[in-house]
Amino acid sequence: MAARALWITGGGSGMGRSIAMSAAAAGWAVALSGRRRDQLDGVVAEITASGGTAIALPLDVRDREAVVEAERRLLDELGRLDGLVLAAGLNAPRRRWADQEFAEFEQIVATNLVATTSVLDAALPDLRAAHGVAVVISSYAGWTFQPGAGVAYSASKTALASLVRTLNQQEAEHGVRACHLCPGDVATDFLTQRPAVPDAAARSVMLTPEDIARAVQFVLDAPAHVRVDELVVSPISQT
Ligand SMILES: NC(=O)c1ccc[n+]([C@@H]2O[C@H](COP(=O)([O-])OP(=O)(O)OC[C@H]3O[C@@H](n4cnc5c(N)ncnc54)[C@H](OP(=O)(O)O)[C@@H]3O)[C@@H](O)[C@H]2O)c1
Repeated sequence: MAARALWITGGGSGMGRSIAMSAAAAGWAVALSGRRRDQLDGVVAEITASGGTAIALPLDVRDREAVVEAERRLLDELGRLDGLVLAAGLNAPRRRWADQEFAEFEQIVATNLVATTSVLDAALPDLRAAHGVAVVISSYAGWTFQPGAGVAYSASKTALASLVRTLNQQEAEHGVRACHLCPGDVATDFLTQRPAVPDAAARSVMLTPEDIARAVQFVLDAPAHVRVDELVVSPISQT
């Protein structure tokens, strides 16, 4: 029988990359999506070099047709879909009402909320067939109000809690489970989108992508009757 298959958006960097490495080491076949093909190919090469199975499905998650096509390709190549990790996300340095660009607001909501829904929607029939699990990488700002996170980011990440709750409420009868995973500060490239980019000292007290991968692996490997509704994981320095 084919190995359990996991689709990861944002799989070429940061948390998505670490989750891919961890899941592949645990025996999952992984499919990685993101816009930068070279990043995806790099992770695929690392996984295959250590004996795992990985494919790249480059796409922009905001492109609905590309999402539907990628899901078809995943099924063709890996034969099944048991898990989904939605890590593609966006923020911007200008994030206050006083200085935000409306076009940027729309792109952040399109990436964090609409595209996350699009991938879940495309994957749902196959997740039902597999009694699968989805891990939605939200944010500490999606769990509790964070004044610095930004208008669009806070609104779009907070909405992911509702997305997960409705999915769990309506899809339990089909065996589908979802987790609203809310990381605090994690030392990744994402921090370059802050108005004041944290220095090495600030990053040294943050979580690592591997810390989040460990939490995600726990959710992915939970038995099919176990649902982890929400997980908040933060560095002890988080305020
Ligand atoms: N770092 C933190 O402190 C932190 C805290 C809480 C939550 N988060 C969330 O964690 C998730 C992962 O972020 P990270 O920290 O691991 O940073 P990251 O390395 O910058 O990851 C973000 C990923 O999203 C992908 N992405 C962005 N827009 C996309 C699009 N339109 N289509 C396809 N892929 C897209 C990027 O790939 P391409 O650029 O190649 O498309 C990239 O791989 C994000 O959702 C973020 O909001 C981060």
